Amino acid sequence: MTIDDLQKANEETRSVWDANAAFWDEKMGEGNDFVNTLQWPAILRLLDPKPGQHILDIATGNGLTARRLAALGAQVAAFDFSGELIKLAQKKPNPETRIAYSVLDATDESALLALGSRTFDAALCNMALFDMANIEPLFRSLPKILKVGGAFVFTLTHPAFNNASCVHVAEEIDDQGEIKLTYSVKISRYITPLHTHGLAIRGQPKAQLYFERPLQDYFNLGFQNGFFVDGFEERCFPPGMPQKNPLSWGGNFSEIPPVLVVRLRSGGG
Ligand SMILES: C[S@@+](CC[C@H](N)C(=O)[O-])C[C@H]1O[C@@H](n2cnc3c(N)ncnc32)[C@H](O)[C@@H]1O
Repeated sequence: MTIDDLQKANEETRSVWDANAAFWDEKMGEGNDFVNTLQWPAILRLLDPKPGQHILDIATGNGLTARRLAALGAQVAAFDFSGELIKLAQKKPNPETRIAYSVLDATDESALLALGSRTFDAALCNMALFDMANIEPLFRSLPKILKVGGAFVFTLTHPAFNNASCVHVAEEIDDQGEIKLTYSVKISRYITPLHTHGLAIRGQPKAQLYFERPLQDYFNLGFQNGFFVDGFEERCFPPGMPQKNPLSWGGNFSEIPPVLVVRLRSGGG
């Protein structure tokens, strides 16, 4: 994509998130099964937030992870480029006013650097890198914004098992007289970065752009900017977890991780 295309895609993304903000906030509230079962337990392990730490919450949405971090005693700087989402976040409880919200575009390197030099103990980006048209400015800036040794934890829909080409399959076989049902996913593309429209939540007012990248793109961008990987979890729903629809993500797919969580550690920028 040219710089011009990236800027257009970024502007479209921002206007869609503004248009979908109220719907997203109503549906997401303080977190769904993905947040509660897959993301948050691993975030707690890998980010290991401590009272008094200064944590950057990147692309905070309606602020749900910022509130969870603040409730644990962290001082949180939370930003998103959707002014509408930040307005909704600001209306919610702010534990001991530990959260400072701002409207900031993660593709704007100078705005990121203005957040401070070696200011943050850690940074979190929950389920948003694949919503960003360009993640290079963020990966370049974070080593300068984070303290040396600071953690950058991000979660993703698993690029290999849960991308836009993913088809959920149920198959029935007669296994020597026993009827068995197996659930699987079929993936038809992975390695070539792709931007494509999709829905985060069924029924949302406007489809949004997704920016899919293979895992090597995330890791290599981290390595090029002096990060190393020192934590990694692939997250599955537990077997037997009840689900509304047998083919939606849930206990029927307990061997396939729809989400991954990475901890990059800054070696200093
Ligand atoms: C799937 S939501 C996740 C929100 C939040 N982190 C959560 O866990 O609920 C993705 C978020 O990325 C934000 N976003 C996308 N591109 C962005 C950018 N360039 N700068 C800042 N935020 C961005 C969207 O506005 C949206 O709030």
